[in-house]
Amino acid sequence: MTPAVAPALPLPVATWTRSTDVVVVGSGAAGLMTAVRLADAGRSVVLVTKGELGAGCTAWAQGGLAAVLGDDDAAELHVRDTLIAGAGLCDEPAVRTLVGEAPGAIADLLELGAQLDRDAAGRPALTREGGHSRDRIVHAGGDASGAEVTRTLAAALRARGVDVLEHTVALDALTSVSGRVTGLRVAAVGDDGALTRPGDLLTRAVVLATGGYGQVYAATSNPEGATGDGLALALRAGAEVADVEFVQFHPTVLWLGAGARGQQALVSEAVRGEGAVLVDGSGRRLMAGAHPLADLAPRDVVSATVAAHLRATGAAHVFLDATHLGREFLERRFPGIVAACRAAGVDPATEPVPVVPAAHYACGGVLADLDGRTSVPGLYAVGEVACTGVQGANRLASNSITEGLVAARRCAALLAADLPPSAPALEPGRGWAVDATARPGISTAVSRSAGVLRDDAGLAALAAVLDAAPVAGTLDLAAVEATALHTVAALLALAARERTESRGCHRRTDAPEPRPEWAVRLAHRLTPDGGVATRRLPVRTEELVPA
Ligand code: SIN
Repeated sequence: MTPAVAPALPLPVATWTRSTDVVVVGSGAAGLMTAVRLADAGRSVVLVTKGELGAGCTAWAQGGLAAVLGDDDAAELHVRDTLIAGAGLCDEPAVRTLVGEAPGAIADLLELGAQLDRDAAGRPALTREGGHSRDRIVHAGGDASGAEVTRTLAAALRARGVDVLEHTVALDALTSVSGRVTGLRVAAVGDDGALTRPGDLLTRAVVLATGGYGQVYAATSNPEGATGDGLALALRAGAEVADVEFVQFHPTVLWLGAGARGQQALVSEAVRGEGAVLVDGSGRRLMAGAHPLADLAPRDVVSATVAAHLRATGAAHVFLDATHLGREFLERRFPGIVAACRAAGVDPATEPVPVVPAAHYACGGVLADLDGRTSVPGLYAVGEVACTGVQGANRLASNSITEGLVAARRCAALLAADLPPSAPALEPGRGWAVDATARPGISTAVSRSAGVLRDDAGLAALAAVLDAAPVAGTLDLAAVEATALHTVAALLALAARERTESRGCHRRTDAPEPRPEWAVRLAHRLTPDGGVATRRLPVRTEELVPA
């Protein structure tokens, strides 16, 4: 049985209205680039962000952006690596578009002033991460790639005078009588999380760029705001979501003790790209023999191997040994990671770093194409909130900021050329919200039952926890986020139960093999009676060209 999902929020009455061509929600790489390029095209844009500009997931990214730039690389190899990591569920035409347009997206960043790390010849320095057969990850500040992307795009946005509403939360879409999205109800968020000054942004297009939902787990690399708000809002607006069961766990977040909750410091895969290895407490290598690429196997393989080891041995964590890379190299190449480890009392130059897998990236999201079109006219989705099929059942490392930029450029070009018609907005129906006190119980249950390893009994127990979630008396930011997390958890439990196989980052201990009949994607939408309808989507493929 599927726990009930909120069909609408209990919205406050709007006290003002304002019109603009496009509303962009979210200020990570995808949202910022969409707004920058729309402004360049002369469209009026309002960017809404629930925190401060640029405070989303992108700013935390360490690794970088994947693109074919090296002399020994080829688009076909990047396509191939992405499809292999995606474990049979990638949308191949979308992957080919991503790979083809990735170098242009990097060129855009450079043109906007990004300071990427350079090699001795002055070209962007390239490194390798898990699942890549060539060095193709560009980075900045050593391990501060996301921060540089955010700095660059936020400066470009400010320079263009785009209107930014910070500390403003998107509540629900407004729709026309035909179901077209024609606006957004928003509210300002006070220091205490209370909602004030509710109002309606009337618009021709709403572009969701709200990022992922790592916070649905007790421990994640994602910042506090990654609560799945955009996915939940899109569902409530009638959109389909897909691939929600595929949550990527990063194998190496810093272990901070058994009860650590919330955002945990990442130890980038690029550290393994430079030669670090995973070992157990006795120094035995974990990945040697587990996969031909060993420590640089795709992330799902590494996380599942570590999780199985922890389960079998009862150990609390494994170790990442980078000591042979040397102090000077580590401090120069990974200054942020070295500082985070030292702050936690571990010196990566002299001792192995304790690490565990933690929730990192949502491969699923609002079903969309790479131009951002969703199943609802007027509603667009770009970046991690979108599910374009590029990531399949498991994202290839560092393909995500690249995807966000490629989709942002395409979505902005689409809306610059052809803005949907305007239409009067109806007053939305009144729904309900989940009380914020439910949030710790939800994330504990999701971690226990829908983590790296899952089974049917655990997922059924998760659904029961979600069913018992209390309804909020007052709508504030905490209730908006708790409702989104509850919605995400309900769909995750549903999809993970339905998919009776193991594939990519969905690993069922009671169905440990991939099954050919499951080479399909699961898409969900809300039904008018508050239920969830599911359909199976065929996977679009082209023949894999041998390397
Ligand atoms: C990392 O630096 O390991 C994360 C990169 C990514 O998630 O793509």
